[in-house]
Amino acid sequence: METMKLKDRVALVTGGGSGLGRAIALLFAEEGAHVVVNELRLETAQQTVAALKGPGGGRAIQADVADSAQVKAMFATIERELGALDILVNNAGIAFGPGDDRGEIGRKAEAVIMELVSGQGVRSHMDITQNLSDESWRRMLAVHLDGTFFCTREALRLMSRKNRGAIVNLSSVAALTGLESVPHYSAAKGGILAFTRAVARDVASRGIRVNAICPGYIDTPMTEPISPLIKKAVLARTPLGRTGDAREVAATALFLASDDSSFFTGQWLSPNGGIFIG
Ligand SMILES: NC(=O)c1ccc[n+]([C@@H]2O[C@H](COP(=O)([O-])OP(=O)(O)OC[C@H]3O[C@@H](n4cnc5c(N)ncnc54)[C@H](O)[C@@H]3O)[C@@H](O)[C@H]2O)c1
Repeated sequence: METMKLKDRVALVTGGGSGLGRAIALLFAEEGAHVVVNELRLETAQQTVAALKGPGGGRAIQADVADSAQVKAMFATIERELGALDILVNNAGIAFGPGDDRGEIGRKAEAVIMELVSGQGVRSHMDITQNLSDESWRRMLAVHLDGTFFCTREALRLMSRKNRGAIVNLSSVAALTGLESVPHYSAAKGGILAFTRAVARDVASRGIRVNAICPGYIDTPMTEPISPLIKKAVLARTPLGRTGDAREVAATALFLASDDSSFFTGQWLSPNGGIFIG
């Protein structure tokens, strides 16, 4: 039997109750890791833990990654109960902030698509940025950027004891190309990429590697509300002609978390079907 790639490793996956985080937790467990599944709601994390199949088992921990005190408490629990952390996946995320009108944003995006295909040029205005609230902007940055920082800071303190570790940050193609419908999301994901590069340089001497994933359009509960027209427009620009499966992102996360990627740090990999080639 092939050796498991994450045997005897302890991994924390934030936002592991849904979509990509859940797929990553399941795959890491199959590869032998003990998986700590974090979620905003404990029951959501517990559902993933109940589905884990692997020798290492797992546990659920509730915390809002945007809250520094809750993150500290989560890591204190990990230290007390497990004594170590080998892998951190900063995955928790939101596509829209509080008060964002998804329906209206979707309608504006559809109007632009219709104008594009008409061949008459784009005449309408999205005007997302000028109508974005402080609250939405701040929550978006808090969940993605603060959350990634808070968890990374605590994880590095644990990983530094062994001078070993792997951190995988979920960015997005939105960071590479900019997504006009979600400027706050694009900014947060761009920040995660720059943070990944800086921290990778900071902790390389400790044997800790830090990399990012920039997925394209993947079928998860986050992308489920996207309208058929917008999905069609995305597929038209995707050379592989389909959306991605969460397991394809999980495979990328496994590569970056395991010793298979031992010479990778400060990099991003983009499972995206070719929608962005750079
Ligand atoms: N699905 C895609 O196409 C896609 C593309 C690029 C990047 N991503 C990124 O991948 C990550 C996972 O996305 P997904 O598609 O699985 O979304 P999802 O909505 O299915 O799952 C995200 C999970 O994060 C949790 N979460 C949100 N805020 C949290 C917080 N403050 N603390 C703890 N948990 C929190 C949610 O409860 C949810 O279970 C996100 O960072 C997302 O931005 C997704």
